[in-house]
Amino acid sequence: MNRRLGYLTGFGLTALAVLWAGVSRKRASAAADEVTESEERYRVLVESAPVAICVHRHSRILYANSAAARLFRAADPAEFVGRPVLDFIHPDAREHVIERLRLLNAGEEVPTIEEQLITLDGEVRDVEVKATPIRYEGAPAVQVIMRDITERRRAHATLRQSLSLLRATLESTADGILVVDPAGQIVIFNQKFADLWGLADQVLDARSDAAALAAIGDSLPDPDAYMQRVRAIYSRPDEESFDVVELKNGRVFERYSQPQRIAGATVGRVWSFRDVTDRRRAERTLEDIAGKLINAQEEERSRIGRELHDHVSQQLALMAIRLDQLRADHSTSEDVATRLGRLRQDTSEIIEDVYRISHRLHSSMLEQLGLVRALQRLVLEFSERHDIPIEFTSAPLSRPVSQESALCLFRVVEEALTNVAKHSKARSARVDIETGDDGIRIAVEDGGVGFDVVTFEKVASLGLISMRERLRLVRGTIRIQSAPNQGTRIEAWAPWTANSEWASDEASADTAGGRPHTDGRSPAAPLAN
Ligand SMILES: Nc1ncnc2c1ncn2[C@@H]1O[C@H](COP(=O)(O)OP(=O)(O)O)[C@@H](O)[C@H]1O
Ligand SMILES: [Mg+2]
Repeated sequence: MNRRLGYLTGFGLTALAVLWAGVSRKRASAAADEVTESEERYRVLVESAPVAICVHRHSRILYANSAAARLFRAADPAEFVGRPVLDFIHPDAREHVIERLRLLNAGEEVPTIEEQLITLDGEVRDVEVKATPIRYEGAPAVQVIMRDITERRRAHATLRQSLSLLRATLESTADGILVVDPAGQIVIFNQKFADLWGLADQVLDARSDAAALAAIGDSLPDPDAYMQRVRAIYSRPDEESFDVVELKNGRVFERYSQPQRIAGATVGRVWSFRDVTDRRRAERTLEDIAGKLINAQEEERSRIGRELHDHVSQQLALMAIRLDQLRADHSTSEDVATRLGRLRQDTSEIIEDVYRISHRLHSSMLEQLGLVRALQRLVLEFSERHDIPIEFTSAPLSRPVSQESALCLFRVVEEALTNVAKHSKARSARVDIETGDDGIRIAVEDGGVGFDVVTFEKVASLGLISMRERLRLVRGTIRIQSAPNQGTRIEAWAPWTANSEWASDEASADTAGGRPHTDGRSPAAPLAN
């Protein structure tokens, strides 16, 4: 039994061994097949991958896919398979790569890095390199995946350059700048913006426009009105805006905003704030001086006018009486009497001249007759003196007009008519008065030679300037329309009451009629057009 067993066993073991040998041979070849198959799969996968992949062993390239060939500027991987890895490493990175290769060859993991490669044609490319120890064809090797990031880096560098330019530009402008996206997030701002509004870092760090708006509320006299306006501007994302903002502390900002667009689409709004406090103060001072000069001139005119009227005219009148008396004296010879008569005649003419001059200098006419009749008289005098027919139309004033507005309009018409006589060569002219709810509009028009308004704006001729200044002082407006050979029209508008309580009894004094007054035009004509 034992022997049998022994035999059997001996037989059986042999048979098993044979059998086993057969099975394991089969298994081994199946395993080999599997390996081949998986290597095949690996190659197909790697070959079709869009990234550059190569495998190296002992730091020599064993295999590379076609993307790697493209990266290395080779027509085929065969051009560089077999070469040492270090041939393709930029000298600056060589030392570091040698160390990495040592670790990888020892089967250790290394981190992904960015380094510079040198292609077959000597070009330097930036690549991101991920290297991993693997088994390849039955032995340890290293798989390297490389991503060309040269363009990305260049784009990055360009972006950094633009950003630094943007930053430098933002910080070098005298305006406070803020950019907000449609979601109300602050995209960018400059220090000047923070300084103008006195905004603390922590407010701006939140990057919320709403928070910034809430924080500036304290500086504003009417925060609600400000917010309302800002909301209105945001509700029209494609429009520009311009406002003047006054702060509680007296500072004045000009606020300008415009849409930020990318490829035609609005992606935010750029706000800019300019502190114009000092400029405004300087302007005010200048305006003040101009106003004072006009008033001083007006006073001086009055004084000289009155002097002429009260003093010189009286003296001349007395002289005329004495001349009359002398002539009446029988003792004088005929010859002397004739000469005295001529003297008397001259004196009368001088009296008339002085009267006229004194009236031009100080028109009590305005106070006595009221604006419309004073103008009517002025037009009549002008027409006669310069022999130009001037049509005059007006309706009685529906309300009293302040002394300032009346004097202003009177002087403007006077200057405009002087210009008609002096420059226009017109054969006729017209003066039209219209009244409205809030003021009086007077137009002086001629069909003469005209002039280039823009040029005269620049040379700052005194007549036109003083018209402007006078109207500005009463918060009125002026429009000067003229072109060479197209005549001239000066349109002045002044409010019923300028800034004085004084009002003449104009409404009752004026009865002059012409065409009925139509009114209706708004006084919106800006001062500077
Ligand atoms: N009605 C007009 N017709 C033609 N030219 C005019 C008229 N009004 C003004 N101008 C032109 O505008 C210039 C400026 O006028 P103004 O400021 O009153 O200065 P001035 O009368 O002292 O020359 C005049 O010199 C003239 O050339
Ligand atoms: Mg003039």
